[in-house]
Amino acid sequence: MLTMTAAPTEAVNDSFLDTKRYYITTPIYYVNGAPHVGTATTTVLADATARYRRLRGDRPYFLTGTDENARKVTEAAEKAGRETLPFVDEVSQRFVETWKLMNCDYDVFFRTTEARHRRIVQEVFTRLKAAGDVYPGVYEGWYSVADETFFRDTDVDETTQTAKESGAKVERVREDTYFFRLSAYGDRLKAHILTHPDFLVPDTRRNEVLAFIEQGLRDINITQNRSGWGIEVPGEPNKIIYVWFDALINYLAESGWPDAPDWDTLWPANVHFMGKEIYTRFHATLWPAMLMALGLPLPQHVVGHGWWLVRDPKTLAFVKGSKSGIQLPLPQETVQLLQERSGAPEAICVDALRYYLCRDIQLQSDAEFSVEMLITRYNSDLANDLGNVLNRVLRAKYFEGTIPQPGGFDDALTAVAAQAVSGYKAALERFDWGAALQAAWTLVGALNKYVAEKEPWTLARNGDTQGVATVVYHALEGARLAAVLVSPVLPSAAAAMGAQLGIANLAAEGTWSEATRWGGLVPGTPIGEPTPLFPRIDTRALGTGTADAAPSPKKGSRTMNTASQEPTFAPVAEPGKTTAASDSALAKPEGGGSSDTVTIDDFARIQLKIAEILTAERIEGAKKLLRLRIRVGEGDDRQLVAGIAESYAPEDLPGRQIVVIANLQPATIRGVQSQGMLLAATDSEGRAILLKPDAPVAPGSKVR
Ligand code: MSP
Repeated sequence: MLTMTAAPTEAVNDSFLDTKRYYITTPIYYVNGAPHVGTATTTVLADATARYRRLRGDRPYFLTGTDENARKVTEAAEKAGRETLPFVDEVSQRFVETWKLMNCDYDVFFRTTEARHRRIVQEVFTRLKAAGDVYPGVYEGWYSVADETFFRDTDVDETTQTAKESGAKVERVREDTYFFRLSAYGDRLKAHILTHPDFLVPDTRRNEVLAFIEQGLRDINITQNRSGWGIEVPGEPNKIIYVWFDALINYLAESGWPDAPDWDTLWPANVHFMGKEIYTRFHATLWPAMLMALGLPLPQHVVGHGWWLVRDPKTLAFVKGSKSGIQLPLPQETVQLLQERSGAPEAICVDALRYYLCRDIQLQSDAEFSVEMLITRYNSDLANDLGNVLNRVLRAKYFEGTIPQPGGFDDALTAVAAQAVSGYKAALERFDWGAALQAAWTLVGALNKYVAEKEPWTLARNGDTQGVATVVYHALEGARLAAVLVSPVLPSAAAAMGAQLGIANLAAEGTWSEATRWGGLVPGTPIGEPTPLFPRIDTRALGTGTADAAPSPKKGSRTMNTASQEPTFAPVAEPGKTTAASDSALAKPEGGGSSDTVTIDDFARIQLKIAEILTAERIEGAKKLLRLRIRVGEGDDRQLVAGIAESYAPEDLPGRQIVVIANLQPATIRGVQSQGMLLAATDSEGRAILLKPDAPVAPGSKVR
């Protein structure tokens, strides 16, 4: 671990050196391919958590790195026609570069090909062998190189020779090997889980793990008969230690265990982050059992998130995005795309991607990754909601560029702020960044609403200087607080917001309590130059199908984002003037039309089509919703969630023709993906009445 250095004349505070670090880890990633936005998600979640803990006054220690001894790594090198070592060095470097781009500020980049790691892995093997927890035997069964996992017969489809869980190819192996006595730890593990309710996060995964242990844990094969790449079994050069047994030990090896006197300032880890596929079997079962066998304390929290899914263009099904199958985009290309489309600097686009990854990845379930959704989040949550708060007030240049003295505090608004702070904090107890950001956005929304309602421009026109001062102070103070809350996820944007407010270090180490208390802005402080942080992306030019003034897509609903519907705050000094950030709501339509009208071009962006209902069923626990499978033309079958269950029986629907919006941003409603929306009228009793064509037409026909 990093050693602390102090100037020789400075007194060293021993108790400070002894303090336990708040130890955060990501998985160490296989170096069989470059990191994509999926791997970036876990690293960004860990980075945001480290930044948050630092703000809270902890001393985080953040580990990431690469898992290099796997067979799939040597196979990837072979496939690329490369020697393993230079290949591994190069791919590992791509991770380093990607995390640098993504502003992930780790303390150590751990590589399992390093000598110190080999030594500790061999040490663990030797100790457990001496204790009888590692013993020789013969293994016969299945192995998947893609998953680097041994599977039981019942886990495998023998006719296709694939693993049922992942669909990966498996091979039959029979070899003399060493086993780890995992079976001996089932009961102790279960007891630990039951007595430490926040060990396994979220609860759904905890239940999965308990069920997995309940099935009975099997001793696990931890060596493979080969030589060359990998960590040798001590004294047996023809055997290599199984890559998972090797890789998990990285977390402990970093602490300097067993020799370094201060290894317990790092170990046990406070939180291991990972995706769900390596949760149950490895991080929540094998790893804690290995630690128990070594007599070491277990990590405090093991957090597993769902996957990003992408649409398979062939089957149209949503599948896990991966390095080898249907690919997720690379962070570099995604950031570049945002830069090209928004004109914002790289650091701001990195922030926007970080925001989307943290906001929309789900702990309990999977979520769809889409560039359209990223752009919608950018325009709606960042350009419109967050950008608005600060820019509108600053741009008006009231009070000659200084923070005004308020006439008092607005209790309703300070209550919203306090609630946002406590909701944010509570969400992060569960490591739920999506929920934390939602809590922060309740403040952002309330601030925009506050300004729109108080109309400081009218107050200014009426000469109510004190009134303007109060509103402006509140808007700016709220923006400061919001900037503190978003700073772990949007570090560059938050710093820029701080600079605009005249604050040099907005969210400094250990300042959580002061920083989140209302009233931090000091009247009279000069404020910086207002510049729109997130220039809007004009989606009209893109044809992405993303509505320009798109509502903030809230999980599980199609409700409009009220914040983005608020009238925008026009500065008195420049009435009616619009900028990139002062959006369409202010722009006067030509020819004296009202702002409620749409142009023919606006309408043309909405693809209305005829579809045919194939099947319909109720959604458990949602009495208004039906899940429909619909055909929107040749080869375009989709799933749609419709709120018509109180008006139509599912059995009456198959075969009917309906009208749908075919290019609506997909949404997850009550955990079910919906790819479009049907059109219905509402009758006088509030029932939904489906629209249908006057005569049958082919599914997919355009409606205009
Ligand atoms: N080397 C092992 C981990 C060893 S840890 C001791 C490994 N590596 S991996 O390269 O396959 O990375 C897996 C991790 O990448 C997941 O746990 C998750 O953090 C991330 N993701 C990979 N694909 C992902 C998605 N499609 N969606 C979300 N996260 C994804 O497993």
